[in-house]
Amino acid sequence: MRMSLLRSASQHLRRRRGYSSTPAQPERKVAILGAAGGIGQPLALLMKLNPLVSSLSLYDIAATPGVAADVSHINTRALVKGFVGDDQLGEALEGADLVIIPAGVPRKPGMTRDDLFKINAGIVKGLCTAIATHCPNALVNMISNPVNSTVPIAAEVFKKAGTYDEKKLFGVTTLDVVRAKTFYAGKANVPVTGVNVPVVGGHAGITILPLFSQGYSCK
Ligand SMILES: NC(=O)c1ccc[n+]([C@@H]2O[C@H](COP(=O)([O-])OP(=O)(O)OC[C@H]3O[C@@H](n4cnc5c(N)ncnc54)[C@H](O)[C@@H]3O)[C@@H](O)[C@H]2O)c1
Repeated sequence: MRMSLLRSASQHLRRRRGYSSTPAQPERKVAILGAAGGIGQPLALLMKLNPLVSSLSLYDIAATPGVAADVSHINTRALVKGFVGDDQLGEALEGADLVIIPAGVPRKPGMTRDDLFKINAGIVKGLCTAIATHCPNALVNMISNPVNSTVPIAAEVFKKAGTYDEKKLFGVTTLDVVRAKTFYAGKANVPVTGVNVPVVGGHAGITILPLFSQGYSCK
């Protein structure tokens, strides 16, 4: 009795830490496009630690083999593969359930997110065209800025390809929410873990609207 309790506790712990694969954990392929960059690398780490991910595809135009090798050494269940360059984009995407896109250039001092449009619009268009071909049913999380514009670009590419589903395309603005919570907690001098602040609008300078008047702390 005691042994079986111990075994079940140990299995529970292993599952929580993502060390074991059980029938309860479905097969899920995640592809990160721009995986060798400042956002892509820590994102790859987070995905590798996520027990819901069984296959992790890391794609970039450079440096992905090294990143993929490093990430693959983490002892969780996701099988990691690195892909580099246009020729390997299709294979990286094939069968993906979720595609996360942090590919492109980031802001430099003095730039707004909109200044990135000219370069990142073309990058996003190319990547979304490949998604429409190789994994048309995938959820797509857009991180590349300006998100206010890259999401509509993705939508237009998918509409043209006949694969658009508004429920499957997301602009990633979590940054605005966590920042709003942190700023609220700092001003109100309350623990940040109990803070909630709704944020509406978009993801560019003046379009990010944290509703501090609606914020609250439950701790
Ligand atoms: N939505 C958000 O909250 C949020 C937060 C931070 C950064 N960003 C945006 O994410 C993007 C990436 O930021 P970063 O700091 O990681 O930049 P970075 O320059 O460090 O990395 C970008 C990566 O994209 C790769 N890349 C460029 N063209 C590509 C292509 N055609 N296909 C695949 N990969 C390609 C580069 O090789 C590089 O590795 C920027 O546009 C930045 O503004 C968004």
